Amino acid sequence: METQGKNKLAVIVVAAGSGERLGFGMAKAKVPVGSEPMLLHTLRTVVSARIAGQICVALPAGDADLRALCESLDTDRYPKITTVDGGATRAESVRAALAALDAEVTAVLIQDAARPLTPVEVYHRVAQTLAAGALAVIPALPVTDTVKVVERSASTGIAAECVRSTPDRAALRSVQTPQGFDLITLRRAHDAAAGLNAEQLEAVTDDAMLVEAAGVDVYVVKGSASSLKITGPWDLLLAEALLAGPLAPRWVEG
Ligand code: C5P
Repeated sequence: METQGKNKLAVIVVAAGSGERLGFGMAKAKVPVGSEPMLLHTLRTVVSARIAGQICVALPAGDADLRALCESLDTDRYPKITTVDGGATRAESVRAALAALDAEVTAVLIQDAARPLTPVEVYHRVAQTLAAGALAVIPALPVTDTVKVVERSASTGIAAECVRSTPDRAALRSVQTPQGFDLITLRRAHDAAAGLNAEQLEAVTDDAMLVEAAGVDVYVVKGSASSLKITGPWDLLLAEALLAGPLAPRWVEG
């Protein structure tokens, strides 16, 4: 695969989410998928993609178990693994990881630990597009549902929300990770966001939106249905079926 030198590309894995919505009473990165913690699946795939000289993992602050998991990984097979304490929002976790990258790193992929089944092909597509000259790349899929923009209804006694508009579905994409960036471009975008208040930071749901706000072109490559984000119990069921069930072979895709 044609990418820039391995040492110049780092992968940040954001794993500092609380996992409240999953209801397991533990950090989401620790929740087992099959028999192993979600974070381990994600890290294994990053390693087998063979694109990174450094992996930097943002963990829930002070989580000794997850830190031990990262430190226990086989350093002969794995690239350098750095861990940092994540922040209160995803954007703050990314920011903490950006501060811990090696000096020679010039480009970075940012992966949600909560997408443990992202195929290596998606990592490769993103890394190749960066190597081709993009400053920002995201993997995405077409949206299959019709999507509505809603607002608070004027008659809440009837229903809480009303439709305001219907965007053209053909122009909509459902966006995944890993998202890839030229490091200087991403650092600038995060620095520009440093003044946001807590509510505004909460609304930063991916890194590309910060780069878009700076007027940078964000290129789009094909994502994968296997790259689902584990948010609720239904996603976990689906991920386990993909890993172990009879459907698995049919689901393996780029
Ligand atoms: O909350 P959400 O599902 O959007 O989280 C996406 C990813 O961001 C997850 O992998 C989660 O662990 C990570 N995250 C983080 N720090 C936070 C919140 C989320 O690293 N404060």
